[in-house]
Amino acid sequence: MKKVIKNGVIVTAADTYKADILIENGVISAIGKEFNENNCEVIDAKGHYVFPGGIDPHTHLDMPFGGTVTKDDFETGTIAAAFGGTTTVIDFCLTTKGKPLQSAIETWHKKSKEKAAIDYSFHLMIGEMNDKVLSELPAIIDNEGITSFKVFMAYKNVFQADDATLYQTLVEAKKLGALVMVHAENGDVIDYLTTKALKEGKTAPIYHALTRPPEIEGEATGRAAQLTGLADSQLYVVHVSCADAVKKIAQAREQGINIWGETCPQYLVLDQTYLEKPNFEGAKYVWSPPLREKWNQDVLWNALKNGDLQTLGSDQCSFDFNGQKDLGKEDFTKIPNGGPIIEDRMSLLFSEGVQKGRITLNQFVDMTSTKIAKLFGLYPKKGSIAVGSDADLLIFDPHVKRTISANTHHMAVDYSAFEGMEVTGEPVSVLCRGEFVVKEKQFVGQKGYGQYIKRSKFNELNINGENKQLTM
Ligand code: URP
Ligand code: ZN
Ligand code: ZN
Repeated sequence: MKKVIKNGVIVTAADTYKADILIENGVISAIGKEFNENNCEVIDAKGHYVFPGGIDPHTHLDMPFGGTVTKDDFETGTIAAAFGGTTTVIDFCLTTKGKPLQSAIETWHKKSKEKAAIDYSFHLMIGEMNDKVLSELPAIIDNEGITSFKVFMAYKNVFQADDATLYQTLVEAKKLGALVMVHAENGDVIDYLTTKALKEGKTAPIYHALTRPPEIEGEATGRAAQLTGLADSQLYVVHVSCADAVKKIAQAREQGINIWGETCPQYLVLDQTYLEKPNFEGAKYVWSPPLREKWNQDVLWNALKNGDLQTLGSDQCSFDFNGQKDLGKEDFTKIPNGGPIIEDRMSLLFSEGVQKGRITLNQFVDMTSTKIAKLFGLYPKKGSIAVGSDADLLIFDPHVKRTISANTHHMAVDYSAFEGMEVTGEPVSVLCRGEFVVKEKQFVGQKGYGQYIKRSKFNELNINGENKQLTM
C-alpha cells in the first residue's frame, strides 16, 4: 500500500522545509503537497521532523571478542538501532589470518540474514596482506559490494596488523575503489604499558585509560594519515576520542590528504572519571580508545561543527556487566572492550548537539546519515530524502524528554552507559524501505526483514569535494 507522510518538516543535510512525502514500492516517489490520498496510508507528522533514516557506520553485533561474544546480536542490535532512528547498520566482519576472507563473510551472512530487522552491510577486516588476500579483494568488492576495509593498529596478538599491511591495504584500496578504515592506537606501546601496569599491581578499570593515553591515539592517527598521503589513498578514522587525534586529522586535511574522522556519543558526553566508579562499575565504561579528560569534549564538538570530523558512529559492542565485564575483575586487561550505544546515538547527538546549539539541524542529518552514505557507497539509495531514494525515514519529536535507562532500552545488555541522562528529542516512527519498523514508539517490524546492501565503490566526487577542489 502507498503511504503519504503529511505535515512534517523535512530535514536533509542541505535543506529544511515543509512538504509531504509519497512512498510507493519502498521508495520515495514524490515530494510535494496535496497528493491524492486514495488507497494511501496517511501518516500525520505534524510537529515532527522527518529525517533520512540514520546510518550507523560502526557496529559489532554478535562478535567474538575478549574471551566472550557481544551481548547484542543482529536481532536485538538492529531492533534497538531502529528504536533509536537508525535504518541501516554497517557491521565489521572479522577475518582470521591464514583463512579465506570469503569464509569470514559467509559467517557474517549467517549471523545476520534471518535476524536483522533493518538493512545492513559489512566492512571487512584486513589483518594481513599477502598474495592470497590480494587475489580475493576484487571479487569481494564486485560480488559482495564490500567497499571498505578495516585495519586495526591496536589489539596486539589479536586483531593488530602491521604498518606494511596498512600501507598495502591503502594502495590496494586506491586501485580498487575502497575506503580504508583504521582503529588508530599504537598497539605495541599499549602492550608495553599494560604489561608494566599489571606488574606494578595496577589492576582496576581506570588503568585501562591510563595505559592508553591520548598521545598513543594521536601518534597512530598521524602515522595512518601520512601513510594515506604516501599511498595517495583514502582513510576513515573510526572512534576519534581526543584532541591529539583531531589535530592530526585536521593537519592532514590541510595538506590535502583524503581523510575523514568519526567520533561517537560516548566521547562527547562521558569522560575518564567514569572509569573510577566504585564497585568495579568503571568496567561498564571500558572501551578503546578510552574515555578522555572532559576538556576533550569541547574539541570534539568544535571539530564536528567546523568539519574536521564528519560522522557519528556508535561503536556498538555490548557486554553485560554481570557475567562478561566481570571477566576482568582482577585484571583490567581482561575486561571485554566495548559499550552499548546503538540505540542512543541519534538522540544524544540531537539533544546535546542540536538542542544545545553546538551543531545545526542539517549538520545533524549529515553526520548521522548523509555523509556516511556518501563515504560508504550507499548514496543516494540511502542517506537522503529524495525522489528515487529508499523510503528510510525517521519521524522525530524534537520536544519530548526521555531519561535513558537500561530498564527501558531495547538492547539485550544489562546496563546503560548513559543511565539517568535526560535527552530532549525522540524517534516516534521509523520506516525502512517504506515499511514501519517502529510505529508510534512500538516495534512493529520483523526480524529477517533487513536486507543485505551491496555498496558502490568509493568515489571522492560523491563527497561534495569538501576536502579537495574538484577540477572540472
Ligand atoms: O572497545 C571497543 N571499541 N570495542 C569494539 C572494537 C573496536 O575497537 O572498535
Ligand atoms: Zn576500534
Ligand atoms: Zn568498533
